[in-house]
Amino acid sequence: MPHPDEFVRAFGQLREIETPAIIVDADVLDANLRRMANLAATAQLDLRPHVKTHKSVKVARQQLALGARGITASKPSEAAVFAEHGFDDIFMAFPPVGAQKLDRIEPLLAEEVLTVGIDDVAIAEPLARRGRQRKRSVPVMFEVDVGMHRAGRPWGRAAAEEAALVAAIPGIDLRGVFTHEGHAHNWHPSKIGDLADEVTHRLTTTAKLLRTTGHPCPTVSVGSTLTTAHLQPNGGLTEMRPGVYAYGDVRTVEGGAATWRDCALTVLATVVSRPNQQTVIIDAGTKTLSPALTKSGTYGYVANLEGAHFVRCSEEHGTLDLKKPSLQPLVGTRIHVVPARAGVVVNTSYRTHQVAGVQHLRSVPTDASLCEL
Ligand SMILES: Cc1ncc(COP(=O)(O)O)c(C=O)c1O
Repeated sequence: MPHPDEFVRAFGQLREIETPAIIVDADVLDANLRRMANLAATAQLDLRPHVKTHKSVKVARQQLALGARGITASKPSEAAVFAEHGFDDIFMAFPPVGAQKLDRIEPLLAEEVLTVGIDDVAIAEPLARRGRQRKRSVPVMFEVDVGMHRAGRPWGRAAAEEAALVAAIPGIDLRGVFTHEGHAHNWHPSKIGDLADEVTHRLTTTAKLLRTTGHPCPTVSVGSTLTTAHLQPNGGLTEMRPGVYAYGDVRTVEGGAATWRDCALTVLATVVSRPNQQTVIIDAGTKTLSPALTKSGTYGYVANLEGAHFVRCSEEHGTLDLKKPSLQPLVGTRIHVVPARAGVVVNTSYRTHQVAGVQHLRSVPTDASLCEL
């Protein structure tokens, strides 16, 4: 992985912004959105970005304006925020289990703006009952496990058989199959092309088996930023659902799907203490950066202070060690950190600050922050 010192951006001190704050370079964001739209077009796939990364109506609208077919959300409350703002094609890639969750998604189903991801007849049955009461079948996608071993039935016969049972339930409208190939993060970046082929094979094989039971399975959807550059046209897939590509983070760089220059989001922090020549204390700890770690076990990369690296974080403080003691940032200096995981950082924020280089452009609300239900 190239060293973050290869950043070529001029990071502003942005004195008008109170820290800690989340900074998004609007030009880098725009370039990321365009690049993914082009990748989807080249692979001849529909693009359905996962909004859990940015949770922003403004950014999701940019994605739609660049050709995205719809959006992916993870929680009923998150989907509801986007529905309130007029988004009318939302896929919730998380199973709604329990009456409270069904109550939450009921209005979105009634408005016919939601498709629901499930992997079990036991989840389909109560959904179908609601559909029958409303006299409208509930659109669902069936989740297939192609190697991540999280949710989803194992690819091939096991998934196809359960999906066929789901499809047969009156009140269910099975639209297709989907997977999240999040295990891509465990693969070496040089092998992600092989993984993309494997994922495609496993998901399309499942779709074909499902079709032999008489179900058309029109949508075949994969979802991970890491595989997007390797997906091929005419391979049987119809859709991709990348998320983190919008902002990038250390994990995406480690996975080979972004360079440091593609990292649109940084956490802006202020040096609040210099207890000794070697140590810099900033006002961003785990409450801001999140406890998520990079593969090398750090909270993020310090983008504008050469050689500085995290030694620890407590809730409110980040402790940096200076490799180059010749650089001695004074108290009050602004530090930009590329976090390990952008989505977790954004989740607890009320807003991001969009900048163009060193100029503050606007404050953008994180419309769906803390939508944990
Ligand atoms: C179901 C699902 N689809 C798509 C994505 C998007 O993946 P990424 O943000 O790595 O591009 C995720 C991310 O966790 C996911 O859980």
